[in-house]
Amino acid sequence: MADPPSTRAIYDEQADRWARSEKILLSDFTARPRVLEALGPLDGTHVLDLGCGEGYVSRLIASQGAASIFGIDLSEEMVRTAQSSIPQDTGCEMAFAAGDVSEPISLPRENFDRVVAVFLFNYLSRAQMIQVLGLARAHLAPGGRFVFTVPHPCFPYMRPATAPFMFDTDDHGYFDGADSTYEGRMWRRDGSDVSIRCVHKTVSDYFDALHTSGWRQLPRVAELHVTPEHLALDPDFFGPLEGAPLHMLFALEAEP
Ligand SMILES: C[S@@+](CC[C@H](N)C(=O)[O-])C[C@H]1O[C@@H](n2cnc3c(N)ncnc32)[C@H](O)[C@@H]1O
Repeated sequence: MADPPSTRAIYDEQADRWARSEKILLSDFTARPRVLEALGPLDGTHVLDLGCGEGYVSRLIASQGAASIFGIDLSEEMVRTAQSSIPQDTGCEMAFAAGDVSEPISLPRENFDRVVAVFLFNYLSRAQMIQVLGLARAHLAPGGRFVFTVPHPCFPYMRPATAPFMFDTDDHGYFDGADSTYEGRMWRRDGSDVSIRCVHKTVSDYFDALHTSGWRQLPRVAELHVTPEHLALDPDFFGPLEGAPLHMLFALEAEP
């Protein structure tokens, strides 16, 4: 059997299906608005977007008054798309670079008021995630906020692997599957889909990794799911996921 494509190849190949200027993917409704809420006031902030993709979250942050945003992503095609989608009229200084955030990277400033990693850690092993959690901690300004989201670790075990959101556990169990790659797909509301993957971790793996990487305060955690508003908007699209835990959001604050 052929080796699965690398994460970089997956995203280089489908950058055009991620490119968007409005909510279209399932998680644009069920997760990203909650990330913006958890980031708090953004006016005048300097923001680091780890695993920025084609820049959708960066553009939302820029539209909320951030002073600067630096996004970094493994996929050169995603970064090219992000660069070409920088709004003309933004008052925010936006820059994007290609790079692997689990390796040493150079950043345009020492400290950021906000660090965000939206669905990045599901592409990293537990050891790589510890590196990146340490990087976020090292570069968060005093009093700053770090917000990240991941697929809910229980999700693949709680419903059949079907549209509009799925991961194939390849018969791994919840505990023995840690660090195994589950290939998945997520749908857009127009009926097309994108390939995603999840390097599986248990819930306690996230807390252990935060502790190992030096974070000491309790994160605020939210288990994100389909809401009555989603169901009212598009019952056919969101209905199959009703009641399932889709994503986890973690929010941490650096000490003042
Ligand atoms: C699910 S996409 C999310 C993109 C963006 N954060 C968003 O919310 O639209 C995950 C992104 O993580 C990037 N990624 C995966 N592993 C990475 C790594 N080691 N370093 C940097 N980016 C990575 C992928 O290239 C991809 O663009």
